[in-house]
Amino acid sequence: MARQTWAFPDGFLWGTATASYQVEGDNANSDWWRWESEPGRIEGGDRSGKACDWWGGRWAEDFDRAAAAGQNAHRLSVEWSRIEPEPGRWDEAALGTYRELLLGLRNRGLTPLVTLHHFTHPNWLAERGGWLNPDVVGLFERYVHRTVSALGDLADVWITINEPNVLAYSSYAAGVFPPGRRSLRQAFRAMETLTNAHAAAYHAIRALRPSARIGLAHHVRGMWPARGWNPLDRLVTWARSTTFNELFPRAAQDGTLRLPGRRLSIPKAAGTQDFFGLNYYTTELDRFDPGARQELFARSHYPPGAALSPTGFLASVPRGLALALRWARGFKMPILITENGTEDPRDDFRREYLLDHLHCIWSEIERGTPVQGYLHWTLVDNFEWAEGWKLRFGLWGLDPNTQQRTRRPSADLYEEICRQNGLSAELMQRYAPKVLERVLQGTSEGSSRGVQ
Ligand code: GAL
Repeated sequence: MARQTWAFPDGFLWGTATASYQVEGDNANSDWWRWESEPGRIEGGDRSGKACDWWGGRWAEDFDRAAAAGQNAHRLSVEWSRIEPEPGRWDEAALGTYRELLLGLRNRGLTPLVTLHHFTHPNWLAERGGWLNPDVVGLFERYVHRTVSALGDLADVWITINEPNVLAYSSYAAGVFPPGRRSLRQAFRAMETLTNAHAAAYHAIRALRPSARIGLAHHVRGMWPARGWNPLDRLVTWARSTTFNELFPRAAQDGTLRLPGRRLSIPKAAGTQDFFGLNYYTTELDRFDPGARQELFARSHYPPGAALSPTGFLASVPRGLALALRWARGFKMPILITENGTEDPRDDFRREYLLDHLHCIWSEIERGTPVQGYLHWTLVDNFEWAEGWKLRFGLWGLDPNTQQRTRRPSADLYEEICRQNGLSAELMQRYAPKVLERVLQGTSEGSSRGVQ
């Protein structure tokens, strides 16, 4: 008889992930606040405004929602620009508020995972040149030291930097994050500084909290050659993937930063991950294009036939996650899925996306991949960077004008998954029968091209 249940390991962490700037509101000392005010930066001219009003106290009701929905963990971030609004001046009240949030999680039975840097910077730091200025390494280390001294007793899992690859690329090469540069050379410089900063932060946290688990949240984007037979497609795919996906995890593993055409030895970065934090959303196909220098000579598109999210922002390709997990397993450490999710205001796409990806994680765990937790992006719709309020990733919807939350069916689905610590055929049948069909046919990962 076909399998009816897919159980996850005991003690598995089930939760959601958020980032301070996206949920807190009124982050007026941050480079993003200024960036948002410039015309043309954010889709539709949107502003983060009060965001989800966590700084106004609505974190409590959202943590209540997460806990009541059977979750047992939450990943959040703290805002450098609040903790250190001017160089060397620490805002004790802000640190106090973060203590309240972390206690708020713990008191509700939610294990906190804390990110120290999630895309945003104090304005004063941006004015000093951000990640192009090597001094940021020492400044980040000092901020991390102060923050972990104040909060370290309340959390055991620390993420130094969220998606350093996305940060470097979006800020310095694609120009869609502040400071809006379009220079690959600058992006590579930023990558070097980010690696040094992560290493310094790792050692600072380790010295303060010997038993802490410390890592990064790596954004891994599946990249496959558009035409498998074409050597140039294969070459550019390899170049993009090694630069974008592999550079940081490998540097944190062996202390060598493999920039295109240049290897840098950063010995203090070696061995600076206790777990592999993996953010996975989607997979693209890459096609050689000599005119696309900025994109390392490739044009990319989604696999034809893969289901697209409502605005076309991402494609559902669970096989890309399976391959990412098999690759991450090679780092020989526990893996946490630190982000995975989709935009979908109507919530008809999300249920399939969630079940397909979770089934795929289950299969990889069965094969021996040590995945210890899953943090869905995200709890409540929040301010989605350059896309503003256009993209709705929440299990709960949000009207930012009224702060009204609306529970989406996926929140019910996820609650059942968290409570069962797994999936069942009956659950799939009720929420997304097509997923059950795929699972029973053995095609739930999609074909090798991600087509479903
Ligand atoms: C990630 C990022 C999150 C969130 C998510 C959804 O790259 O870490 O902050 O924006 O994408 O697009």
